[in-house]
Amino acid sequence: ALPPSVRIVEVGPRDGLQNEKTLVPTAAKIELVDRLSATGLQTIEATSFVSPKWVPQLADAAEVFSGIDRRPGIAYPVLVPNLQGYERARAVGAEEVAVFTAASEAFNRKNTNAGIDESLQRFAPVLERAQVDGTKVRGYVSTVLGCPYQGEVPLADVVRVAKALHAMGCYEISLGDTIGVGTPDKARAMLRAVAAEVPMPALAVHFHDTWGQALANILACLEEGVAVVDSAVSGAGGCPYAKGASGNVASEDVVYMLHGMGIDTGIDLDRLADTGRWLAGLLGRETGSKAGRALAAA
Ligand code: HMG
Ligand code: MG
Repeated sequence: ALPPSVRIVEVGPRDGLQNEKTLVPTAAKIELVDRLSATGLQTIEATSFVSPKWVPQLADAAEVFSGIDRRPGIAYPVLVPNLQGYERARAVGAEEVAVFTAASEAFNRKNTNAGIDESLQRFAPVLERAQVDGTKVRGYVSTVLGCPYQGEVPLADVVRVAKALHAMGCYEISLGDTIGVGTPDKARAMLRAVAAEVPMPALAVHFHDTWGQALANILACLEEGVAVVDSAVSGAGGCPYAKGASGNVASEDVVYMLHGMGIDTGIDLDRLADTGRWLAGLLGRETGSKAGRALAAA
């Protein structure tokens, strides 16, 4: 049965911007988060405390996080790759972080210069500290439906990594189709396999739309019972270390689909679409959201 409501995790300020070649001014990043805070979203991934050498676009993470207007009732998680990132995030008051690894060894090495098990070892001190500090930790598993370097990714590897992150104390595991290659039957089978080991309420899905399959995959996963969906306003996004990865599924398109199916999100679609068109203008392109375009034309 479909969930009555879905929580959208808006990843535009992080996943949406991390792959942009032209530096986006800090003030614009802050404005993006503040605009998103006015749409009814409950979770906005605000920025990323990874190495600035690896992702120069988000080198201003501390300034962005300090500059946003953090509203009560909204969670503002930030990406951290290691204890150093965790400390930088905590220093500016982050109350929720997200760690990330992958189901494919080859991709994880390109993305974090570490094997999967080595990255899990890196997270152990982060989770220990987070428990003491009362910081919530989300966990990402990338390449759950395919890897740009290794190709096929065995389901058992996805399950193993998701289970490990959950056992370490991540309250939610986001399953990422980093390069958007999955199709609905595969997405459903993957989610089902993970849900046999990690409770469904602790799972989220994260689809990139490279091959135009994201909405179909999300629907298949909703039918399996997932109720948390990651997406990025205007369909921005991509991982700089995943060859061929393009934008995330557009938040506007997900919200339009959910509302059309009678599923509540608490989000004002018009405001979200306005923000998506504003962001696209800032990046010098048309919005990547079809719903955003249709609303503008209506
Ligand atoms: P490394 O080079 O192996 O790191 O990178 P290191 O520990 O050897 O340190 C080297 C230098 O980096 C040192 O500085 C450290 O201080 C510094 P130096 O002494 O040379 O001056 N450093 C840092 N500086 C600031 N903040 C930090 C930090 N850590 C080290 N946190 C590392 C390893 C993991 C740091 C690097 O590979 C990295 O930052 N990778 C991140 C890549 C990335 O952000 N990818 C995109 C996000 S993941 C994604 O998009 C997928 C997702 O959306 C889900 C999906 O779609 O599948 C989540
Ligand atoms: Mg992503």
